[in-house]
Amino acid sequence: MANVLITGGAGFIGSHTCLVLLEAGHQLVALDNFATSSPESLRRVLAIAPPAAKARLRVLEGDIRDPLALDQAFSLGGGRFDAVIHFAGLKSVDQSVREPLSYWDVNVAGSRNLLSAMIKHHCHTLVFSSSATVYGHPHHIPIAESAPVQPINPYGHTKAAVEQMLADLASTVIENQAVAPSAERPPWRIARLRYFNPVGAHPSGRIGEDPLGPPSNLFPFVSQVALGQRPALRIFGADWPTPDGTGIRDYIHVMDLAEGHLAALEALWNGPAQMLTLNLGRGRGYSVLEVVKAFEQASGRSVPFQFVARRPGDAPWSVADPSEAGRQLGWWARRDLEEMCRDGWAWQRSHPQGYRSVG
Ligand code: NAD
Ligand code: UFG
Repeated sequence: MANVLITGGAGFIGSHTCLVLLEAGHQLVALDNFATSSPESLRRVLAIAPPAAKARLRVLEGDIRDPLALDQAFSLGGGRFDAVIHFAGLKSVDQSVREPLSYWDVNVAGSRNLLSAMIKHHCHTLVFSSSATVYGHPHHIPIAESAPVQPINPYGHTKAAVEQMLADLASTVIENQAVAPSAERPPWRIARLRYFNPVGAHPSGRIGEDPLGPPSNLFPFVSQVALGQRPALRIFGADWPTPDGTGIRDYIHVMDLAEGHLAALEALWNGPAQMLTLNLGRGRGYSVLEVVKAFEQASGRSVPFQFVARRPGDAPWSVADPSEAGRQLGWWARRDLEEMCRDGWAWQRSHPQGYRSVG
């Protein structure tokens, strides 16, 4: 059983990962300031988790930019964590263009603060939420981890900056004064996980994605149109160089992603000092029109749409080469688009107002 700090544990991916980790027998402290989430998600995690797991999750309200909150989290974890899974951050591309300093503050300064606390408390194992957004406009599909890192928006710049900070940390050299000139490296075990497009929900329909305000991502928007909360989906561009003219993405079920974190945690924990950089995707692309059709089938509802101009900053294709994660972690995404739509719809239908809904 590993003792793990989960920053951002109440969020969309964090809550599903907490559940998977509890089911696997790990002990967790979730630190979250609930800036973009609700504490209700973790209450639901506890309700779904097996009874014996309930005592293994503690929740602390606090900000990763606050060193005292981090000290408090470490003391709640008994002074020492075996690992940290770091989800806390801001993730809206649009908002990052409007408020870049907030993104550098939370995503970069917050991560630096967390890393300082880890060093202070002798924890050197970290799983970090990076993003396929670091690839910007990829030259080659599917995208391998060796593709150039060339983000095209402030959100992507902050993820790339944290990736670089972690690479620098992993290659820190400690001069060993006693036996100069030899030098040693602290035993950092780091996984930089580049997620593609996480969607869907836990099959119980009790936890899921709960965006604040109008969703900017395709899946929650389509769900809300299917529910009748919004009149129509606006499809950003019908003239992309793709088979049906709409953008293609590699959608991955959030439960597969959560299981990828469990695999990464256990690989690092049981493995040597190393830094892994891995795509977490399915390796299969779907167009916007294909997603609309699959969602209509899963929900039995119609999803009216209209074509509008391309969204600035969008790329036509983004599809992972996930084979390195398979090799390193023995992990592959297993759930298909139908399952993503079915589970996402079960959540949305029963929670039209997200966690503000009754039930
Ligand atoms: P989310 O917004 O649902 O979760 C982020 C969590 O972090 C929230 O619970 C929020 O309250 C918390 N948080 C934000 N600022 C904080 C702070 N200063 N201190 C403590 N907690 C804070 O987002 P998500 O989809 O679960 O994403 C999790 C991580 O994965 C993020 O780092 C995001 O950038 C990354 N990511 C997400 C996607 C995606 O499409 N969902 C894709 C690639 C990468
Ligand atoms: N789209 C629409 N209409 C909408 C929303 C999206 O047509 O209302 C289209 C987009 O143009 C794109 C596709 O649907 O072709 C997917 O768009 P999303 O906004 O759902 O996802 P993105 O690939 O643009 O970006 C997401 C996250 C980023 C993350 C990236 C890779 O928002 O934070 O996936 O992980 F970096």
